[in-house]
Amino acid sequence: MRITAVSTPLDQIQADALIVPVFEGQKETRFSAGPLCDSGEVAGKPLEQTLLHNASGVAAARVLLAGAGKPESFDPAGMRRLAGAAVRFLKAKSVKHIAISLEGAYASPDFAAAAVEGAVLGDFEPDRHKTGNDKKQLDSFTAAASFDGLAAAVERARIVAEAANFTREMVNEPGNLLTPMRMADAARAMAAEQGLACEVLDRDAMAELGMGSLLGVAQGSAEPPCLIVLRYRPAQAAGAAHLGLVGKGVTFDTGGISIKPADSMEKMKYDMAGGASMIGAMRALAQLKPAVAVTAFIPCVENMPSSRAQRPGDIVTAMSGKTIEVINTDAEGRLILADALTYARKQGCTHLVDAATLTGAIVVALGHLHVGLFTNNDALKDRLLAAAKAEGERMWPMPLDDDYRDYLKTPFADIANVGGRWGGAVTAAMFLKEFAEDTPWVHLDIAGTAWLDDGKPFLAKGPTGITVRSLVRLAMDWKE
Ligand code: BES
Ligand code: MN
Ligand code: ZN
Repeated sequence: MRITAVSTPLDQIQADALIVPVFEGQKETRFSAGPLCDSGEVAGKPLEQTLLHNASGVAAARVLLAGAGKPESFDPAGMRRLAGAAVRFLKAKSVKHIAISLEGAYASPDFAAAAVEGAVLGDFEPDRHKTGNDKKQLDSFTAAASFDGLAAAVERARIVAEAANFTREMVNEPGNLLTPMRMADAARAMAAEQGLACEVLDRDAMAELGMGSLLGVAQGSAEPPCLIVLRYRPAQAAGAAHLGLVGKGVTFDTGGISIKPADSMEKMKYDMAGGASMIGAMRALAQLKPAVAVTAFIPCVENMPSSRAQRPGDIVTAMSGKTIEVINTDAEGRLILADALTYARKQGCTHLVDAATLTGAIVVALGHLHVGLFTNNDALKDRLLAAAKAEGERMWPMPLDDDYRDYLKTPFADIANVGGRWGGAVTAAMFLKEFAEDTPWVHLDIAGTAWLDDGKPFLAKGPTGITVRSLVRLAMDWKE
């Protein structure tokens, strides 16, 4: 989809459809929909859609009155949903060229960016593997407004939203097509295209480094594991900070010997969503060029049961030197992240953020609306929360008191990989904290938010691409 910005007067915009936000209580639009407002047909409720044909005084073939809700509560997140819903509504009708009008209080870079993001994200369909030619895709989306900074805001939004869709494509790939090595191939191809450095550590290289925790998970699968490293370096660094982005890349999670029930197991193809988010964020950062050094680390494995698979009770030695008793082979994400966090620290990262579809327990705690956020550093947490708020990605701070560490005690090793029945998302985070050590670190548990079970008017069912936008903003707004 081609994304453009124009300052053409509204009535002269050429498009198959022009989106015009309508607010609750609004009695009139400039397209003489007054009677529709009076009759209550157009109430301006959020996500309401009214399509007008042959509207008077506009060059566009159609006008879509898009409900925006109450003007005082309309924010960029609302604009993102509005644009997404409008795009999905219109493309179902085979409309190809869409424009949106940004006027009045909403003529600002933030609202323009949100509209473009909403449109690009709304245009995504998880249908790559469907054959046939009934696929509905837009040709162009135009943000029409006249204020300074429109073009730059639109361009930035396009880059970020396309990166999120890149992540979503990857997350949606099934386990047979996206193995750890294929994930590395995709990262390498992206890096070559975007001018990033990419290195892929194979099993031997990881064994050399002593990554016993990661390799223990990988040993049950015929698919070789790898650790993807993507490096971005600014031409002129603003300071000495080095941000490390660590993402869980389990290309399929059967649970291993502690095998999962068959029901919904097919969804475990999205267990690499954290890793794919980091690859997507790096794709955007390569283009937007923040002033801070950023390196992404994506440990990729397949978690399988087999005669070579890790057993419950096995004890492995992590790269940090700590020994781990593997009580449950299904708690594999923390095992691969442990070594990736240690490696990131050894590579000189001064700040770490990890994202992982880590626990079912975070879904119990927060449902599908909020990412669970855990940290050992309040300053980094506040920055990430601010970035997430600006991007409309909801995150909720969770506790990580020292005494949760007691849940992970075992007489047989330094730490156990599970902490019993209660507080599962917290004990998983506590396990990771052991390997982040004293480096400022935030952990994002995205098990409940990386996959949308039911499509929304503004977003297709399937992968959401969550954390890409927040992580990009965190790096772009980096202050020493
Ligand atoms: N990948 C799963 C977590 C998950 C669950 C992601 C549901 C998305 C949706 C993770 O590897 C896992 O299996 N976690 C276990 C941990 C348990 C064994 C302590 C879980 O949450 O059940
Ligand atoms: Mn698991
Ligand atoms: Zn998993």
